[in-house]
Amino acid sequence: MGKSTVIFIASTICLFSLIGITQANDESDKYEFILEGMVYCDPCRSEFKTNLSQPLADARVGMQCRHPETEQITITVSASTNSTGYYHMLIDGDHESELCETYLIRSPKEDCSEIPNQGHGRESSRVTLTNNNGISGKYRDANPLFFLAKKVAPECAQEFKEMEYIPELKDINQA
Ligand SMILES: *[C@@H]1O[C@H](CO)[C@@H](O)[C@H](O)[C@H]1NC(C)=O
Ligand SMILES: *[C@@H]1O[C@H](CO)[C@@H](O)[C@H](O)[C@H]1NC(C)=O
Repeated sequence: MGKSTVIFIASTICLFSLIGITQANDESDKYEFILEGMVYCDPCRSEFKTNLSQPLADARVGMQCRHPETEQITITVSASTNSTGYYHMLIDGDHESELCETYLIRSPKEDCSEIPNQGHGRESSRVTLTNNNGISGKYRDANPLFFLAKKVAPECAQEFKEMEYIPELKDINQA
């Protein structure tokens, strides 16, 4: 092979990998929003984050938007959490006048798989997926979701005590 042939092949490979990269970018550019959030196991059954909350890998979550009056569903997306408990969803379109919510689908842990009662419109699971309300940018954070443990862990009592202890400490310091 002549030198110029080698150069030609090398630059062709280069060009094709560049096209590959560009196409990969275009793929996520097609989506309006990237929604990210975390899923925990809540061993205290408190439904809020404590020091004892454990990020859950391989948990299945969904996101759905619907029209508030007609209840018509406009979009449904699902995703799984990665090893650090994060999920990542690509969302098509702007959903300004719709109600969008994240929800739990499946836990990988048999002893931490109870889904808290989620009435429709639960404030903690709402997500804003529009650029027309002052929030800009592609990335949106969803509030964390919690699967509940079957049994409350014994450490929870201590954890809650410590949380309550904070105002008391402040009182002492102010005295
Ligand atoms: C999990 O996903 C989050 C959010 O997309 C990301 O920041 C983090 O690096 C991911 N962790 C792993 C181990 O992939
Ligand atoms: C949670 O952990 C942090 C860091 O370890 C600690 O500073 C904090 O006091 C803990 N909070 C409670 C309520 O135990």
